[in-house]
Amino acid sequence: MAVLPVLETPRLILRSFVPEDAAAVTELAADRRIADTTLNIPHPYDLRMAEEWIGTHAQRLANGEQAAFAVTLKSNLALIGAVSLGIERRFRRANLGYWIGVPWWHQGYATEAARVVVDFGFAECRLHRVHAVHLPRNPASGRVLQKIGMQQEGVQREHTCKNDVYEDLVLYGVLQRQWQTDKDYS
Ligand SMILES: CC(C)(COP(=O)(O)OP(=O)(O)OC[C@H]1O[C@@H](n2cnc3c(N)ncnc32)[C@H](O)[C@@H]1OP(=O)(O)O)[C@@H](O)C(=O)NCCC(=O)NCCS
Repeated sequence: MAVLPVLETPRLILRSFVPEDAAAVTELAADRRIADTTLNIPHPYDLRMAEEWIGTHAQRLANGEQAAFAVTLKSNLALIGAVSLGIERRFRRANLGYWIGVPWWHQGYATEAARVVVDFGFAECRLHRVHAVHLPRNPASGRVLQKIGMQQEGVQREHTCKNDVYEDLVLYGVLQRQWQTDKDYS
C-alpha cells in the first residue's frame, strides 16, 4: 500500500501522520500517563522522537509492516491520538495499538478509532486475525478491546519488562470471520 486512506467515523477523521504533527504528538505523548501503559513510548519524550517516529511511517507502510493513523477530531481537526496496526503479512495478522491524549480520555474516542482501524485491517489489508495486548493494570484498554468485539485469549505471564519490572500482558484477538462490521462506533 503506497498511501493510507482517510478513515471517517461519526466524530473522527483518521489519516496519515505528517511531519507537522510532531509538535502535537510530543505534547500528548510526553505525558507520563501515556508512556506508563504503552510498550514502546519512552519517557521523557521529546520532539526529535516524534519526528523520527513519523519519519518511519512511509517506509513501514510501503513494506507492508505498519499502518499508523493519526486520530483527529472532525469538529476542529485537532490531533488527539494514534492507532496503528503492526502487520505481519506472512501470517495475515496484525497487532493493534493505540493511545489517546489525556485531555480526551473517557469519551469513547479510543473505541471509535480502534474499531474503524480494525475494519480497515480486515477489509483493505485482508488480514485473517487482529490481536492486541494490554497490561493488567490498564483495564481501560481491555475495555476498549471488549467494546469493539475482541475476545480475551489469555495472559502472557511476565511477557514484557518496563522499568526493570516484568509484567503480564493480557492478550485479546479477533478473527476476520468473527468481526462484525456494525456501524455503532460509540
Ligand atoms: C487506554 C486508552 C486508549 C483509553 O482511551 P479512551 O478514549 O479513554 O477509551 P474509551 O473512552 O473509548 O473507553 C474506555 C473504557 O474504559 C473504561 N475505563 C476507564 N478507566 C477504567 C478503569 N480504571 N477500570 C475499568 N474500566 C475503565 C471506561 O469506562 C470505558 O468503558 P465504558 O465505555 O464501558 O464506560 C487511554 O486511556 C490511553 O491512551 N492510555 C494510555 C496509553 C495506553 O494505555 N494505550 C493502550 C496500550 S494497550
